[in-house]
Amino acid sequence: MAISQSVVKAFNEQLNRELFSEYLYLSMAAWFESLNLKGFANWMRVQAQEEHAHAMLFYNFIIDRGGTVALDKIDRPDQKWDSPLAAISKALEHEEFITRNINDLFDISMAAKDHAAHSFLKFFLDEQVEEEKNASEIVGKLKLIGDSASGLFMLDNELGLRVFTPPAVAGATPAP
Ligand code: FEO
Repeated sequence: MAISQSVVKAFNEQLNRELFSEYLYLSMAAWFESLNLKGFANWMRVQAQEEHAHAMLFYNFIIDRGGTVALDKIDRPDQKWDSPLAAISKALEHEEFITRNINDLFDISMAAKDHAAHSFLKFFLDEQVEEEKNASEIVGKLKLIGDSASGLFMLDNELGLRVFTPPAVAGATPAP
């Protein structure tokens, strides 16, 4: 079944949002580097890699279904934040925004009776639960840490351990 234009349009918009997410987290990584918080910077670099993979999953899906990828300009992300807590809180807020978008895409694919798109989006619904949980846990830890420098460095060490694992979606061409 040919992909509907409503799904192509919505998926192209999501592709742009995933690329913006990559930009946002790269910007946060650079800011954490400037604070010498290498573990936070590593966590953000991995997050940016994940977002690139998410973008490419949408990119590949549109092409695989015979649609046309239409890249748009990417908004400029902020370049600094008031504190690590402010930055990670912003990341959590951004993920909540992305979750709302994925839910909207789900509705659009249902309205178009596009079951393949619907199935593809299930990965992203589950992924958003994980994305919000990860950011929320760091926000919680930063609140507990308060202004303890040793607590911040312990968390920095922990976040330095994160490694990138390419996401796999059943039935979809892998990223990139
Ligand atoms: Fe692509 Fe962070 O969701």
